[in-house]
Amino acid sequence: MPSIIGRIYLKCSPQYRQALSIIRKYFDRIVEQEQKKTEESIGERRTNLIASLINSLQENEKKETIKPTDKKKGLSHDEVFDEMLLFLVGSYETTSAALAWFIHLMSKNPRVQAKIKAELGDNKQHRLSIEQLESLEYLNCVIQEVLRFAPPSISTIRSVTIDDRLPASGIQLHKGDEIWINIFNLTRDKRYWKIDPDLFYPERFQSEDKDHHPYALIPFGSGHRQCIGQVLALLELKAIAVRLMQHVTFGDGGLEVNAGGFNAKGILIPKKIGVTITFD
Ligand code: HEM
Repeated sequence: MPSIIGRIYLKCSPQYRQALSIIRKYFDRIVEQEQKKTEESIGERRTNLIASLINSLQENEKKETIKPTDKKKGLSHDEVFDEMLLFLVGSYETTSAALAWFIHLMSKNPRVQAKIKAELGDNKQHRLSIEQLESLEYLNCVIQEVLRFAPPSISTIRSVTIDDRLPASGIQLHKGDEIWINIFNLTRDKRYWKIDPDLFYPERFQSEDKDHHPYALIPFGSGHRQCIGQVLALLELKAIAVRLMQHVTFGDGGLEVNAGGFNAKGILIPKKIGVTITFD
């Protein structure tokens, strides 16, 4: 669909306009709070991401608008808003979808849960340090397998910058074309996985599929536009997975309610997830 139609559709949608106005109100509040904090702590450089974005707000937006692009300084109010919105949209649903898949897949694979718990050993009650989290090799394979089995972002897009041809098929690509890269299909393509890719099997990363094709698994994209939050996302996923496995065991809630399946409306989430929770 040409993007102009999408833009007209959104402009006419009352739901979209209402959602945008709510987010804008929150955004203005965050900017105000951050500016106040910066004023209160004069001399002390605030270094969090929101503070950095807000510090780069243009002092005189009207003056900057009329300058040529390469002479512009700082970011306009709208640009900072777009950046903050992208962090919200890009981070929240992806990470929560990965966690939903983790819970669903654990409930279906008691063997994997038992192995994670065994790896945690005596660390059943303690908060783990970042170094300890990183040393959990099996958990690392499980998280990788969750992101392979059900990559929250099923696709990404690249724009072609020069006329070119695909090497194997000779298909012509034109400058300006948009290429849709199907992250999900790559994770299930039997040409790139030695162990059946339709199987949830974390051990694949310790055995036959250890040296898989680098582009067969790109849940965070690749290249210079790859996900900016992937290190944070992996840390969050590991920390939460450990906390869950220290305290609870997930069980299958039944064939019907916990049927799984895929629901892909932008982000890939399980269609049916219903688990039992036993406190250990
Ligand atoms: C499991 C969690 C996440 C997944 C699966 C995920 C996936 C992705 C993917 C596939 C892309 C497109 C990359 C490309 O085209 O090469 C992307 C971009 C992006 N992600 Fe994530 N993401 C996750 C978490 C996060 C978090 C926690 C943040 C922020 C704190 C974040 C911020 C972004 C931003 C800002 C971009 C755009 C980067 C750019 O265009 O230069 N993501 N993410």
